[in-house]
Amino acid sequence: MPTPNLLTKPIEAMLGEAISAELFASHLYLHLANQMQFVGYFGAQKFFLAEAAAEREHYQRLVEFMNKRGSWARVGWKAATAGEHDLPGAEVRR
Ligand SMILES: [Fe+2]
Repeated sequence: MPTPNLLTKPIEAMLGEAISAELFASHLYLHLANQMQFVGYFGAQKFFLAEAAAEREHYQRLVEFMNKRGSWARVGWKAATAGEHDLPGAEVRR
């Protein structure tokens, strides 16, 4: 039996924004890791891959927090990939 929703709408909205921010941060760190690999900075690549994984872990914690309280995250895919064409590094070349 599902848990009744214990979260108010404003709290759900704030958690949703935080969840989207965590996904965006993970996406950004993955992008930076790929850019670092491209220019041969493999130590930096490893660093950014670990940061991306950490942000996904933060995302998962927030989702589980909501699920355990009878709510669920409404992840906007636009938010998760917002500005994908504006990410830094387009100018990074060998
Ligand atoms: Fe985070």
